[in-house]
Amino acid sequence: MDTSAADFLPAARTLKALRAAAADCRGCPLYARGTQTVFGEGPRRAALVLVGEQPGDEEDRVGRPFVGPAGAVLARVLEEVGIDRAAVYVTNAVKHFKWEPRGSRRLHKKPSAREIAACHPWLAEEVRAVRPRMVVCLGLTAARAAFGRAVRLKDVRAQFTVTPLSAATFVTTHPAALLRVRGGEARAQAHAQFRQDLADVAARLAQ
Ligand code: URA
Ligand code: SF4
Repeated sequence: MDTSAADFLPAARTLKALRAAAADCRGCPLYARGTQTVFGEGPRRAALVLVGEQPGDEEDRVGRPFVGPAGAVLARVLEEVGIDRAAVYVTNAVKHFKWEPRGSRRLHKKPSAREIAACHPWLAEEVRAVRPRMVVCLGLTAARAAFGRAVRLKDVRAQFTVTPLSAATFVTTHPAALLRVRGGEARAQAHAQFRQDLADVAARLAQ
């Protein structure tokens, strides 16, 4: 590959040094579109790392992961299953918001495989620094980053798998996907499954 985040890694691989270096990353064209790099945040030694897709509109403005609508769903379900969000390191597979204008709104666009690969060094270094017991991928962009290849949700969901990113990689759906499910019953079912997945994670954390 040509340019990637690897060209911007700092000498010291502490979270603090990584975060500072990532702020100036130009490892893929997305740096020009987003307001700022949205790096992960959380305790230096978290047992659990949660990986989303990329910052959304609100995250892009605020500079923190999962502070928008999807973050609200995530926070509620974490609380329901008894996982303390403050004890979790939360990040994304891609650190810049990818969007296209739609009227006065900024419409989220899925990152490409190339962009996921370009940004991967940041995620890999975050996980290496935090050394969590498990990594939970929220959706297939995060799963692709963890597995290093495209996977299907039905093949990997709700099981702990060894991946290059973590010896205990768990995949569930993305909370934003729940917001898009139409129909009360289908939505309730999708929510219930997401809650059950995170309850499985909570149970493993308690072991
Ligand atoms: N969706 C994500 O995948 N990550 C965020 O930080 C916010 C929304
Ligand atoms: Fe760098 Fe990732 Fe932003 Fe691309 S998306 S510029 S690789 S931080």
